[in-house]
Amino acid sequence: MFAHIQAAPADPILGLNDAYKNETNPNKINLGVGVYKDEQGNTPILQSVKQAEERLLTEELTKSYLSIEGTDNYRQSVQTLLFGENHPIINKKLAHTAHTPGGTGALRVAAEFIKKHLPEATIWVSNPTWANHQAIFQSVGLEVGSYAYYDASSKSLDFESLLASLSQIPEGDIVLFHGCCHNPTGIDPTKEQWQQLAKLCGKQGFLPLFDFAYQGFGVGLEEDAQGLRTFAEQVPEMLIASSFSKNFGLYNERVGALTIVCETADNADAAFTQIKRAARTNYSNPPAHGAAIVAEILSNKALRSLWEMELQSMRTRIHEMRGLFVSTLRSKGVEQDFSFISKQQGMFSFSGLNPEQVSQLRKQFGIYIVGSGRINVAGMTHENMDPLCSAIAEILTQ
Ligand code: LMR
Repeated sequence: MFAHIQAAPADPILGLNDAYKNETNPNKINLGVGVYKDEQGNTPILQSVKQAEERLLTEELTKSYLSIEGTDNYRQSVQTLLFGENHPIINKKLAHTAHTPGGTGALRVAAEFIKKHLPEATIWVSNPTWANHQAIFQSVGLEVGSYAYYDASSKSLDFESLLASLSQIPEGDIVLFHGCCHNPTGIDPTKEQWQQLAKLCGKQGFLPLFDFAYQGFGVGLEEDAQGLRTFAEQVPEMLIASSFSKNFGLYNERVGALTIVCETADNADAAFTQIKRAARTNYSNPPAHGAAIVAEILSNKALRSLWEMELQSMRTRIHEMRGLFVSTLRSKGVEQDFSFISKQQGMFSFSGLNPEQVSQLRKQFGIYIVGSGRINVAGMTHENMDPLCSAIAEILTQ
């Protein structure tokens, strides 16, 4: 029965992680998977998370199932983070949120919901986008198209082409936007550009789906939500997939959420029953621990301010590494201009290194970055910066 099955190709991001584990070069550096590392190269458990866990350990009374949508306090906390306190969407009950296993779980539930209720819709993703987006939507049988986003020659957002692409998207299709810290380019629209995009969305009548996995890694919690909130002001319906892997460092707890916003509270109630149905037939109900930590932190003043400080220090360290990377490359005699890297936001930089150069870095130096040339800046440290930049300088002159 199974003898005919061909091996699937390795995952472009997580497969790289597996290969890195088997790498024998003692000086290996992993800048592949999007995971934050501190100056010592560790992915720490945040203090706010540890303290929340201590409380949960003493307060938790049961391990019984959660409801399909998760707990109310988690769901409310997610909405407040997304829209801000007392937003009309929250007050008028126009949104419902389901706790999902990670942001990927949210995207998968969204994909199933779309396939069932908007079966003719094509979903449009930016070119480039996160390596898993297309596969998630295609796995439920959705058509996936791509819209212009990145200009490789100027290493910036090609906003004119983006607008031109989106102007071709018909009513009833779906457009996936990265809420902030675009993965893989690190380039986000400006405030004014978000306004133009939201306006165009209203005019064209496509449905926005926000993938929001890096809130707080760009400029700040509120600033990073500006694209999403601009859309919320101008269009009546949207879907939002949240992930708390990065901003709470809860990668292996798989904690995310899917939020649906509708025109009326009645519409939201009805549509949400279908979201719950998609969740029930997929994983039944979500894992409790990660979401309990998030809810505990967000509802406790002291824990929340500790978390915000920790988030800020992750963000600041990444910004510092961006600057250091650019200046170290320059000090190694690299003539190519890499200054665009210090302007990008979030964990990633689209380095412009080609697949051949990426493969040379791996073979010659044990340095792992994603085949598209995406570098996880959050994996750089003062210690690995010098060997990393020497290796890149050598590769660029080969
Ligand atoms: C990444 O883009 O590296 C992360 O989002 C991890 C993943 O699941 O791909």
